[in-house]
Amino acid sequence: MAKAKTTAFFCRECGYESAKWAGQCPACKEWNTMVEEPTGPRTSQTGTARRPPLIKARPALLSEISVEEKDRVTTGYQELDRVLGGGVVSGSLVLVGGDPGIGKSTLLLQVCRNLAAAGQKVLYISGEESLKQIKLRANRIGQMTGELKFLCETSLDHIQQVLSQEKPDIVIIDSIQTMYREEIASAPGSVSQVRESTNLLMQIAKGEGITIFIVGHVTKEGVVAGPRVLEHMVDTVLYFEGDRHASYRILRGVKNRFGSTNEIGVFEMREQGLAEVENPSEFMLDGRPEGASGAVVACAMEGTRPMLLEVQALVTQSNLGIPRRTAAGTDHNRVNLLMAVLEKRCHYEMSRYDAYVNIAGGMKMNEPALDLSIIMALVSSLKDRPVDEKTVVFGEVGLSGEVRAVSMAEQRVNEAMKLGFEACILPQICLDKMKSTDKIRLVGVRNVREAIGYL
Ligand code: TYD
Ligand code: MG
Repeated sequence: MAKAKTTAFFCRECGYESAKWAGQCPACKEWNTMVEEPTGPRTSQTGTARRPPLIKARPALLSEISVEEKDRVTTGYQELDRVLGGGVVSGSLVLVGGDPGIGKSTLLLQVCRNLAAAGQKVLYISGEESLKQIKLRANRIGQMTGELKFLCETSLDHIQQVLSQEKPDIVIIDSIQTMYREEIASAPGSVSQVRESTNLLMQIAKGEGITIFIVGHVTKEGVVAGPRVLEHMVDTVLYFEGDRHASYRILRGVKNRFGSTNEIGVFEMREQGLAEVENPSEFMLDGRPEGASGAVVACAMEGTRPMLLEVQALVTQSNLGIPRRTAAGTDHNRVNLLMAVLEKRCHYEMSRYDAYVNIAGGMKMNEPALDLSIIMALVSSLKDRPVDEKTVVFGEVGLSGEVRAVSMAEQRVNEAMKLGFEACILPQICLDKMKSTDKIRLVGVRNVREAIGYL
């Protein structure tokens, strides 16, 4: 009899399963991500594989299902509530992903504190830190009240028992990569462990109506499965991102079964934990140089929220055959395209210059509405002529050098007004549709040449 195959290859990025190894994952096209892992339950040799417990359910009419407002619980942080779509839905499974050390445990501990103070029964399960370490972190954050308990455990079978005894409302699993199920043969952190563990957590969340937050580390190397493996199983996927060298952190919704995904929340890492940043524009423009050429304030939208940021460009004579172009925080190809537009439509000899474009503050932004500000920054640096520092610029640029309309122009102008800007250069088409105001000078432009004329 042929020997039954007991291992398979899994992609630790996306979880793709294959019988053969491959250098590149056929599903997500990542290189060197396929790892060999045992498959199937550990008990399969003896033929007594345990089945997952069946949840007894019956079909129901839509009219029989009641939805109450109280099903959404506020986390005590507006920034987080907005990303979740107006609070966390009870019985949902939320994945919080991010690089190690970005502040996931800190954020969730603070959320636990708020929820416990609001009368929820909270259980924080850590597989990474000892109770002492958690206590030290909690001391930094401040007073904890209410029913907030901690548990250090990595065995999900044990956790399941604890949950059925304790019956908490909210559970934190920190992190999914440290959890394991007895009946899966592979090591904790492997694709099949991570997947099966999430499966069990999902059954618990839906079956018992417990809200579960799962922490997932984004891993670049090693054999630990990344959070993308479980994205499709959970209700909501949030990524916590930010620059290591900057203090602000951005919480971004990637998937949300209960709300929109284009919202962000902004936090700042302080000595006493994370604090909400209610006005990110002010934060982003902090420390702006005055009267410098090549710096333009742009207005981008993050979901329904306008955000002002500084676009910087440095254009210098090139000594190389192929001029150097770099873009930090925005799309490199987009910058190349805009430079080609300048070359062809405005007759600037961009090919003789190196160009470096940067979004100040480490923000990543790919919105087309930044186009016009990138163009203005490039020309401002090329001519060494500063753009008026009380002016905000936004608009999409087309290949013929025309300035095209962008969405939500009014909100963008309002944000500029709120922060005391005196003028705004925007697409003429947007201006035509707007109510006139005397609080800010609005300058409509039809093409790139008109915009550059204001330099
Ligand atoms: P942590 O929440 O442990 O990150 P993760 O769980 O995502 O791995 O965050 C750790 C970092 O946050 C660490 O570098 C220290 C910093 N930190 C502060 O700056 N202030 C604080 O009050 C706390 C608790 C952490
Ligand atoms: Mg942590």
